[in-house]
Amino acid sequence: MVALYVYRGYAAPTLKEQGTRFGCRMNNPAELTETVLARCDLLARFSEEPDRLTRTFLCEPLRQVHECLSGWLRSAGLEVRTDAIGNLIGHRPAAHADAPLFLIGSHVDSVPNAGKYDGVLGVLLGLAAVQALNEKPLPFAVEVLAFSEEEGIRYRTPYLGSMAAAGRFESALLERTDAAGVSMADAIRHFGLEPARIPQAAYTGRQLLGYLEAHIEQGPVLEARNLPVGIVEAIVGQSRFWVSFHGKAGHAGTLPMELRQDALAAAAEFVLAVEQQARSVEGLRATVGTLAVTPSAVNVVPGSARLSLDIRHPHDVVRAQATAALWKQAAALASRRGVRFQIDQAEHHPAVPADPRLTELLADSVRAVGYSPYRMVSGAGHDAAVMASLTPMTMLFLRSPSGVSHHPDETVLPGDVGIALQVMVDFLERLAGVSR
Ligand code: GLV
Ligand code: MN
Ligand code: MN
Repeated sequence: MVALYVYRGYAAPTLKEQGTRFGCRMNNPAELTETVLARCDLLARFSEEPDRLTRTFLCEPLRQVHECLSGWLRSAGLEVRTDAIGNLIGHRPAAHADAPLFLIGSHVDSVPNAGKYDGVLGVLLGLAAVQALNEKPLPFAVEVLAFSEEEGIRYRTPYLGSMAAAGRFESALLERTDAAGVSMADAIRHFGLEPARIPQAAYTGRQLLGYLEAHIEQGPVLEARNLPVGIVEAIVGQSRFWVSFHGKAGHAGTLPMELRQDALAAAAEFVLAVEQQARSVEGLRATVGTLAVTPSAVNVVPGSARLSLDIRHPHDVVRAQATAALWKQAAALASRRGVRFQIDQAEHHPAVPADPRLTELLADSVRAVGYSPYRMVSGAGHDAAVMASLTPMTMLFLRSPSGVSHHPDETVLPGDVGIALQVMVDFLERLAGVSR
């Protein structure tokens, strides 16, 4: 049984608290904005770790997140369901049963030691936008999706929730194990869900109008331009690799330096080559985010070193060329040092453009709310990149103060949340206008 920690010692909210303080049916924008922020605070209490916010795929605290979200969605008049990958979905019906469907979503998992807004804010803004519509009929149904997994932490592969929704989930992943040896299939069953039903999570075959995701920018661009919101015209392409160097472990005192096959020294050289490569190619971002050394002892020359490599660029060819150049360097340095280099796991997500028509509509909404619709490329991956393979996609960014994200200092300005909410409501109304 995995322990449930309540982040930073707060008491978990009682159901009564959730229902009375946060569950009321509102359509006042200021009150809704305050509610969105209060809800982000509240959901940040549910963490796998005692002193920081960490919420990976289908961990125990996700049950509390679902409990809160379900209550809020229901009190806003939405029908709630959970699909087999753990996505929580609120459905707002249209006046006609055969009307098409519009999707709004983001994710509720997090990186280790996360901030409160990455993902969660987009889900809560989607719910608030639906609440702001109140009883207003739309010519389409709306679903608000809280994807169970986007960050790729627990099973070293991202977008599990949106992949299932888009009908692209690969069942071979079910056998993959986490750091504790729990298979993905078992984690899903332990959460009370049935892995065999994942194909039914797919929206394929439904008449969809599109997908909207609001998300913090996670970078400094909007702040530098003094803009509360921005419009994403494309999401960078991204590759993730797990690579290892294998040398020979040995005695730290007796093995002469020239006779060593030090796997960590080789990995360290590679890390610097990655940094150098990224610095030399315009727009390239390359990161070694983890490094594990075996046997990892003070007096043992490292026998092997395993690391992750995350590499991104708006143009897929540039990413591919940079990656190929890095493999060449890795092979050369490995051979010079007498160690073996191997790529253990690789996955690729191509750059994804937003849908021009929906994006133009979103730009009109930003203008209508009184701001210039600044268009930008997202350097972060988002569920929107996956959903784009299913339905037209558009994305709204909110300014990230100091550009901080994937860090507990991640924040958002309340005024910007209010503006984003107005933009989203205007967008839904505009979409209603053009879809009638
Ligand atoms: C997700 O946050 C990513 O861009 O890695
Ligand atoms: Mn993230
Ligand atoms: Mn995110």
